[in-house]
Amino acid sequence: MSYLRKNIAAMDGYVPGFQPPDEASWIKLNTNENPYPPSPQVIKAIQAATGDDLRKYPDAACRAGREAAAELYGYPVDWVIMANGSDELLNNLIRACAGEGEEVAYLHPSYSYYATLAAVQGAQIKTFALTESGDIMDFPERYTGKLFFLTNPNAPLGLRWQADDVGALADRCSGLLVVDEAYADFAEGNCLELVRQKPNVVVTRTLSKSYSLAGMRLGLAIARPYIIAALDKIRDHYNLDRLAQAAIAAALIDQDYFRECVERICATRQWFSIELDKLGYSVIPSSANYVFTSPPDQNGKRVYDALYQRKILVRYFSDPVLSHGLRISIGTQEEMERTLAALAEIG
Ligand SMILES: Cc1ncc(COP(=O)(O)O)c(C=O)c1O
Repeated sequence: MSYLRKNIAAMDGYVPGFQPPDEASWIKLNTNENPYPPSPQVIKAIQAATGDDLRKYPDAACRAGREAAAELYGYPVDWVIMANGSDELLNNLIRACAGEGEEVAYLHPSYSYYATLAAVQGAQIKTFALTESGDIMDFPERYTGKLFFLTNPNAPLGLRWQADDVGALADRCSGLLVVDEAYADFAEGNCLELVRQKPNVVVTRTLSKSYSLAGMRLGLAIARPYIIAALDKIRDHYNLDRLAQAAIAAALIDQDYFRECVERICATRQWFSIELDKLGYSVIPSSANYVFTSPPDQNGKRVYDALYQRKILVRYFSDPVLSHGLRISIGTQEEMERTLAALAEIG
């Protein structure tokens, strides 16, 4: 006999990207972290918050962060919520909208954590196949599930849909369309305006990638106030600690630093993609801080292993729709030059 709920006992846990213990000796391009440090303003703000005040609870409403995000994205404060990583919001959106046995959907391939979160709730999972040219297969005229997660730009392929196309998808959903914009800051457009235009669109963002703050666990969502109010009800009331709250406001305010880092990453991405093509690798044009690329022999595992031996860590997926290639995060220009030299050697 087990004390566990049946679905918990039966499900697999999510396996996050490998974080090697001897991090400094690797070129680490497997979890789409930002190669540049957080803004100096963020470090200052965190240092200023590490004092006697830590004995007190943080602001449960996370006002400073919410206000900074509202100002930056042009929405009223009650359309914004902060979270301990955008993963927390994805989880709470399922908790808020999908009861046991109800359906949530996402594309395959995309972020597989949605499936884990749904399984915890006992929700049913539906996937729609995505081709490498961005076609979504067999999406019904009307999708009646409770939630549809659209990772835009897609992870791991890096391709993206224009806001108009996403809006048309929203019109076909009876439930919420959650646009997971974890990588949108590296793209030329985003779907933020859709939140105002469509009653069922929610956009989630993270500070893990474009703001170099994966270690702080900071995410946010923009949605209609009644959805934000529901997410507010079910979250952990002190979900963001004092250091995270200090960091989020400082990060969102220092837009000059943010833009400079994002521009550098996009320039390196463009250079790296062109060089991969010269090596005979195929590359899906990317709107994110990684590229999905396949070697001429379509054997992702062979190249992954050879890079691993050279202490370069990238992401290989054994899933048959992805095993022909690799997802390689964009590091510094120097890291990518070394990776390219290794790939030239490996072939
Ligand atoms: C598509 C996608 N959504 C959400 C997340 C989670 O981001 P966070 O670090 O804010 O929890 C990731 C992280 O890799 C991601 O790739």
